[in-house]
Amino acid sequence: MKNVAVLGSGVVGQVLADGFLKHGYNVMRGSRDPKKLAEWKVKAGAKASVGTFAEAAQFGEVVAIAVKGTAAEAAVEQCEGHLAGKTVIDANNPIADLPPVNGVLQYFTGPNESLMERLQQKAPAAKFVKAFSCVGNAFMIDPDFHGQKPTMFICGDDAVAKAQVKGILDQFGWETADMGVVTAARAIEPLCQLWCLPGLTGGGWTHAFKLLRL
Ligand SMILES: NC(=O)c1ccc[n+]([C@@H]2O[C@H](COP(=O)([O-])OP(=O)(O)OC[C@H]3O[C@@H](n4cnc5c(N)ncnc54)[C@H](OP(=O)(O)O)[C@@H]3O)[C@@H](O)[C@H]2O)c1
Repeated sequence: MKNVAVLGSGVVGQVLADGFLKHGYNVMRGSRDPKKLAEWKVKAGAKASVGTFAEAAQFGEVVAIAVKGTAAEAAVEQCEGHLAGKTVIDANNPIADLPPVNGVLQYFTGPNESLMERLQQKAPAAKFVKAFSCVGNAFMIDPDFHGQKPTMFICGDDAVAKAQVKGILDQFGWETADMGVVTAARAIEPLCQLWCLPGLTGGGWTHAFKLLRL
């Protein structure tokens, strides 16, 4: 697998796209307005390209989606069927357009549902895998915690897709904890609220989760 699509013109899209390029992949970034990514394309070099969400989704053997949570379902729709049969990395969080409450981000989903379940329903033939949602973008690629590998929590229904994402996370310097099927996104997505809480209350943003096991 060499061709990766990264849907998202925001900071996470840029970090993931640059990370895939750094690790030897060809990357097409997707946006509703690909012109806004022209400067990035020039800087990113010959293995980088840009297109619409549908063009990028068609290009990618693996597709990573990193868009505004409230727009994630619309972005999946705009892929026009090109996600079918592919591993789709879901980095999105269901953050509502409302201010945090005492540092806790507000979500537009409830506790017994998740954004990834909604996305999987929108594109049933895609193989969604939750990943990169529980850490700030500064640590997504080759995180340096003085030799300790942080844990990326993933989930999804397709075992082969999860193995593919684990392979990517191995390359990107992460330890992977597979939490199970798509329903587990109900437990993984709130980790973003926990991760952001110290930052939003003055405690800093330089942390990541580590799962300890006996
Ligand atoms: N920031 C972090 O460190 C971090 C960490 C972990 C997870 N996440 C999650 O990663 C995702 C991306 O975050 P971000 O900060 O990089 O970017 P963002 O500002 O949340 O999202 C920007 C992207 O959303 C798309 N978008 C906005 N409205 C849209 C609409 N109506 N229809 C379709 N697409 C629309 C934009 O498309 P256009 O390109 O067409 O404008 C753009 O690509 C979020 O879900 C966030 O919760 C963020």
